[in-house]
Amino acid sequence: MNILILGAGGREHALAWKLAQSPLLSQLYVAPGNAGTAAIAENIPIGVNDFSGIKEWVLSKDIQMVIVGPEDPLVNGVHDFFLQDEALCHIPVIGPQKSAAALEGSKEFAKEFMMRHHIPTAQYQSFTKETLEDGHRFLEEVEPPYVLKADGLAAGKGVVILKELGEAKRELTAMLQDAKFGAASDTVVIEEFLDGVELSVFVLTDGVHYKILPTAKDYKRIGEGDTGLNTGGMGAISPVPFADDVFMEKIEETIVKPTIDGLKKDKLPYKGFIFIGLIKVKGEPKVIEYNVRLGDPETEAVIPRIKNDLLEVFNAVATTHLDQVVLEMDKRTAVTVMAVSGGYPEAYEKGKEISGLDNITDSIVFHAGTTGEQGKILTNGGRVLAVTSFGSDFQSALEVSYKNIAKIDFEGITYRKDLGFDL
Ligand code: AMP
Ligand code: GLY
Repeated sequence: MNILILGAGGREHALAWKLAQSPLLSQLYVAPGNAGTAAIAENIPIGVNDFSGIKEWVLSKDIQMVIVGPEDPLVNGVHDFFLQDEALCHIPVIGPQKSAAALEGSKEFAKEFMMRHHIPTAQYQSFTKETLEDGHRFLEEVEPPYVLKADGLAAGKGVVILKELGEAKRELTAMLQDAKFGAASDTVVIEEFLDGVELSVFVLTDGVHYKILPTAKDYKRIGEGDTGLNTGGMGAISPVPFADDVFMEKIEETIVKPTIDGLKKDKLPYKGFIFIGLIKVKGEPKVIEYNVRLGDPETEAVIPRIKNDLLEVFNAVATTHLDQVVLEMDKRTAVTVMAVSGGYPEAYEKGKEISGLDNITDSIVFHAGTTGEQGKILTNGGRVLAVTSFGSDFQSALEVSYKNIAKIDFEGITYRKDLGFDL
């Protein structure tokens, strides 16, 4: 089979790395990809939201399946675009259709979905410019900290948590009246603050059946001890030690099953990954958010733990036979440590030459923001490389990743040295 992956990050490199091991694979393409995917697949110079461009390449390269990495093209309806096109409609797309992708594209839609299907989550109310004054009054009634969420996609920056009422009111005004996040904050969800530890659960569904993938925990803040600004993710650990069988059973019964059933009841067509962001509050799981894709960098720790032929699994999703797949997981722990550009997540420079990649032993280096130029590999983003290792526990796996990341160099290289500190 000829396969196209859409995306350019560490998640897409990890998917490409896994699919490249499948005996069912003929040609692998990644659009637009990075220097890591270029080494195992053919990069196609096209953006993930350029649907007509994607169509041209899919037809000219005889691509037989498309796997969508990031949320943007899904929320914009890439799957629907395929289904509505006579030449493309027989080509399976792994990723939900637009109506279902709204689970990530609109926080209000996701909250309404959870309420309708009795899925445990934080209490909330949503507001618009017209109801700004009600929003201010609502803030006065609830306990701090105040959780304000822009309804739409805001590149991971749309959630603001504030301790002071005055600050929260000003933020609400900025979001609704001054369009702080553009149209994404035309509606704002104000939510009860949930105090607990977070983890992510990934579910793969064919729309009827589902499989739960290994759990993972990511480290979002730039600074050690979970301090400083939010990032796309500085590292991940899979499995999450506190997600024992009893807790996972609760997640399956109270969250995963009602979610899959809810998609069916609401006629939301879903073939793809569901990333459920959870928080454990007094022993009970509650949903913080849905994403309609895999997490990054969680993917770089989760995918290497799956023993199955991933292409076979995707074929089962496409043909609604996921019930016939038995997922086999590597029992070991996998960890990913992310190397980022100096200055990230604020302003940073690109184009720094990366050295030391040839000296890595016992780790897998997934490229996140890299590009190739005249035989050199250069930094090309905030998150640059994800170094994944296995171990009998997260401590020993981290040791290997830290030993190897120390061999890699580029000007400004930064990484967190305290992953797992909270476990
Ligand atoms: P999100 O963009 O929805 O993933 O939110 C970003 C982060 O904000 C989450 O990973 C949580 O750490 C935090 N967060 C979101 N909602 C809540 C909540 N209701 N209570 C506490 N923390 C939250
Ligand atoms: N690591 C969090 C995310 O992918 O959204």
